[in-house]
Amino acid sequence: METTTTGRRSPDDAVGYVHGYTDLEARRLDDQAGVLAGLLHGGTRYPAGSRVLEVGCGVGAQTVQLIGGSPGAELTAVDVSAGSLARARAAVAAAHPGAAVTWVRADLHDLPFADAEFDHLFVCFVLEHLADPVAALAGLRRVLRPGGTLTVIEGDHASAFFHPDSAPARAAIGHLIALQAAAGGDGLIGRRLHPLLDAAGYERVTVEPRTMYVDGSRPDLVQGFVRDTFTAMVGSVREDALAAGLTTPDEWERGIDGLRRAAGPGGTFHYAFFKATAVAPAGGAAAGQAPPRASGSTSRA
Ligand SMILES: C[S@@+](CC[C@H](N)C(=O)[O-])C[C@H]1O[C@@H](n2cnc3c(N)ncnc32)[C@H](O)[C@@H]1O
Repeated sequence: METTTTGRRSPDDAVGYVHGYTDLEARRLDDQAGVLAGLLHGGTRYPAGSRVLEVGCGVGAQTVQLIGGSPGAELTAVDVSAGSLARARAAVAAAHPGAAVTWVRADLHDLPFADAEFDHLFVCFVLEHLADPVAALAGLRRVLRPGGTLTVIEGDHASAFFHPDSAPARAAIGHLIALQAAAGGDGLIGRRLHPLLDAAGYERVTVEPRTMYVDGSRPDLVQGFVRDTFTAMVGSVREDALAAGLTTPDEWERGIDGLRRAAGPGGTFHYAFFKATAVAPAGGAAAGQAPPRASGSTSRA
């Protein structure tokens, strides 16, 4: 679940990742992971000694949760952003002092790992940014051993509905979806996980919705999810939406006000994440559509 923030690229934006790497965004990812930990990580436990690769670890928000749930696993975390990896390393050191994670800077389309090097892959809020998620997923099969598992988590912004209803708020969410699509991503990708994983050649694909429903009985979620995660995510594309001529300042403000009312007295909010698991087929490495091997832009961090 992520914002579309064109125009805020970092110097280490090696593959044209369209989102910002700002302090604000890093904090939002941490808030998001903390408040969603039980919902998203429930059922994800890796055996001690198993080799796990987190793809697109960002600032380590999910890495911290993975270590907490599977303290004995041998975790490798990869991201294309050097700055995010540095933050991730610090976050893990603070949350789990002594935890051993191998940090690798690389493009997920060109991973510097041997065929079948991992038992499990974990990919959270990454596919929504990729122009060709099927090709990416098929390429990831190369580093997953036959019979190994893939876990993918994504949101779907059209699953947001709320009380009181607000047409301007729905329009603002629509602008976020349109901007993400224009940047080559898909803010509605959650509903597509099953066909995407099928098309990428995985077996035993299962997808579960993981629903976030918030009302006044959960002030922690009103703050942590409705305000600090969802409204912050929509709010962060204000400048892009105005620049694209999708909205006006007044209309945008009415949209954000609509979301704030859902986080106010008597308000309620619904959003669905989708969590998929799948298995690499026998002969996966050979059968996978392996991308070219590592290039010089890759480094162990
Ligand atoms: C929204 S963040 C999610 C981070 C983390 N998984 C989480 O849930 O908090 C998406 C991450 O994917 C990374 N990313 C995007 N494209 C990538 C690519 N081609 N190779 C490696 N990482 C990539 C970005 O740098 C960013 O850190």
